[in-house]
Amino acid sequence: MKVTVVGAGAVGATCADNIARKELASELVLLDIKEGLAEGKAQDMMQTAALLGFDTKIVGVTNDYSKTAGSNVVVITSGLPRRPGMTREELIGTNAGIVKTVAENILKHSPDAMIIVISNPMDTMTYLALQSTGLPKNKIIGMGGALDSSRFKYQLSQHLNCSPADLNAIVIGGHGDTTMIPLIRLATWNSVPVTKLLSAAAQQQIINDTMVGGATLTKLIGTSAWYAPGAAGAALVETILRDEKKLFTCCVALNGEYGQKDICLGVPVVIGKNGWEKIIELDLDKDEQAAFAKSAEAVRSMNDVLKTL
Ligand code: LAC
Repeated sequence: MKVTVVGAGAVGATCADNIARKELASELVLLDIKEGLAEGKAQDMMQTAALLGFDTKIVGVTNDYSKTAGSNVVVITSGLPRRPGMTREELIGTNAGIVKTVAENILKHSPDAMIIVISNPMDTMTYLALQSTGLPKNKIIGMGGALDSSRFKYQLSQHLNCSPADLNAIVIGGHGDTTMIPLIRLATWNSVPVTKLLSAAAQQQIINDTMVGGATLTKLIGTSAWYAPGAAGAALVETILRDEKKLFTCCVALNGEYGQKDICLGVPVVIGKNGWEKIIELDLDKDEQAAFAKSAEAVRSMNDVLKTL
């Protein structure tokens, strides 16, 4: 199996590192436009192979898409990251052009690839990747909900003093500070509803902290986070290449599901060797439905900006 990660910044490199450590692919190409960056990071990672005992060949290239030919999965992380105080949406002007060019170049050399989109604003970049490649919708997956759900589990685990791995909890909707919807009503700690274990105030705190999870880190670090975004990207590569049929919340094209059309938005999906294979329709209550519709409205107006660029 061959995987390409486009963008050798912190998120792309961390994603590549996770993919290599898990030996998900025999060949991993890391591509960046900055001369030498991907080559350097690829070599650095290869120099961990003897220590960590993995057998993935990592190749770094500067903008040479011919080296990505025949990739089974491509992860797009390229574009500007957030600076403190910036929203993901403010990146659209610069990142749309980058993501469109990357997606088109990828398609030329790997027409059968599945594409995982991490670049922000992620929901709109996923929609753009779908439009600009014309690939079947099941092959385009936006990573946001996988990351946000993991952050939600982290916040819950802090309050419950439990292992995040014992939690079942998902975030649907957009990957924006105000568009994501942590579904606390449906969250469980090994099948015990967390709403039975947490006060109303604690629940609200967890929801709020999850929604600004990325912004909080941007403020602390001075740029976008990378460990969890990179790990989320690699987890999606893993469920595809190992055909695990895992259920993740991801940003996918909706065609009537959850009452939405012509939009890519975060919903629970089963992911395996065919990309996202099935959307799971949850029984949302009235408030959750309203929040989802509101989230869709915000993402749709961001998608409309694409027409003006
Ligand atoms: C974050 C970026 C990757 O949420 O969107 O950290």
